[in-house]
Amino acid sequence: MRYSIKAGSPEKISADCLVVAIWNKGTLSDEAKQIDGAASKSISKILKSGDFIGKLGETQLIHNPAGISANRVLLVGAGDKKKMNGKTASKLISSALKVTRRLQARSVHFALNSASISDRDGNWLAARVSQEAEIASYQYDTTKSKKAKAYATQSVSLSSLSGSRRKNLEASLKRGQSIGKAVNRARELGNLPGNICTPTYLAQQAALLADRNRSITTQILSEKQMRRLGMGSLLSVGHGSAEESKLIVMRYKGAKGDCKPFAIIGKGITFDTGGISLKPGAAMDEMKFDMCGAASVVATMGAVADLKLPINVVGVVAAAENMPSDRATKPGDIVTSMSGKTIEILNTDAEGRLVLCDALTYVEKFKPRSVIDIATLTGAAVATFGSHVNALLSNNHKLAETLIDCGEEVLDRAWQLPLWEEYQSMLNSNFADIANIGGPRAGTITAACFLSRFAEKQKWAHLDIAGSAWHSGGQKGATGRPVSLLIEYLSRQKA
Ligand code: BES
Ligand code: MN
Ligand code: ZN
Repeated sequence: MRYSIKAGSPEKISADCLVVAIWNKGTLSDEAKQIDGAASKSISKILKSGDFIGKLGETQLIHNPAGISANRVLLVGAGDKKKMNGKTASKLISSALKVTRRLQARSVHFALNSASISDRDGNWLAARVSQEAEIASYQYDTTKSKKAKAYATQSVSLSSLSGSRRKNLEASLKRGQSIGKAVNRARELGNLPGNICTPTYLAQQAALLADRNRSITTQILSEKQMRRLGMGSLLSVGHGSAEESKLIVMRYKGAKGDCKPFAIIGKGITFDTGGISLKPGAAMDEMKFDMCGAASVVATMGAVADLKLPINVVGVVAAAENMPSDRATKPGDIVTSMSGKTIEILNTDAEGRLVLCDALTYVEKFKPRSVIDIATLTGAAVATFGSHVNALLSNNHKLAETLIDCGEEVLDRAWQLPLWEEYQSMLNSNFADIANIGGPRAGTITAACFLSRFAEKQKWAHLDIAGSAWHSGGQKGATGRPVSLLIEYLSRQKA
């Protein structure tokens, strides 16, 4: 898709579909007024009919409007003018894109110069438009015999926004495009079935990243190499599976070699049956999404290279398949992690923390400036937050605040749960240093408590994306979260 800034009055812009905002109760935006004037009041007539009132996200199409260069005008409800903010602007954009997608419009122009957003600037809006347009263009067809029709929209443009430099807006469009592509990349990896997207497949995808970007190098650790490093915890998870576990290490170099990196770690369980502590059958297919943390790390690494961020980043994926078999880990088994701590595995379905703890110890060697792990870790996170929030737990107040702020900025929000000392004793074991479950209560917190024992030396945060990483039901599919949050966080860092 091509993105550009187009100056000039809206009635003279040629496009397959021209998008203009209408405020609540049918109040015309400045662009809508201009179009209404040129198109013999065709907008006013619609508003008078009462069919369209400008409610946020509402849409109304006008075909072949006389006096207008564009083939169609799409009115989009923008809601209350005083309440226009980043969130409502985003809703306006995505509502418009739903229609242009259905229409198969070849070119779309957003005439939004007067959409005065209270809490965001023009550059944010430009990046949002391209990001949303990119995300709207994604259609999964990899494993369908009938391929989806090529996405019709080839160019998206935005009016030059008052108060913003054209050059900056163009850069923002590019940036939003990179982010949108990365989100789609994570969605695609998440959507692939477990028999295709195995640990080995994830490793190949990470290797491809290095082939395509000179600034990225990838190293894949085999089970043998992990054994030598003492990663008994990670290895115990894939022990029952015919698929080999992998530790995938991607290094992006955008700053001097001695500049300490930021680390992101993804849970890459390519299928989670629960192991011997087998899950119930209902919706078990959705456990192919148990590698969405890993997908977000791979996709973010690609975007970081694309955006040429001036920092160093190391992305690690702990990949394994959790299967029951005669070789599988059993409840009560005790393993020794790379840190030397022994773990009593009371439930083999609490496997995410078992792969992540060894990855957390592994990244210590990079002396990272911060460590963020991303994991579809607990059903309790879904029970607590539903699908709108990335659950956040951290041993560093400043890091948690920054992540909450980043999530707010890019509308990929995170909310913090406590990681208090009081919860730690729930992980006590009579037979090992720590148990891998803390009982039925406060599941998201005790899971994070477990991880915290392996992150004591780090400035660390944990994002439990069990609720946010995919949709169930008719719209079943990966969301690509929290890629945009991660990119925002890394974009704010300096060498
Ligand atoms: N991958 C699951 C968590 C999950 C479950 C995410 C459902 C989204 C929807 C994880 O490996 C798991 O099974 N966690 C257990 C932990 C429990 C055994 C302590 C859970 O949450 O039930
Ligand atoms: Mn599990
Ligand atoms: Zn899992």
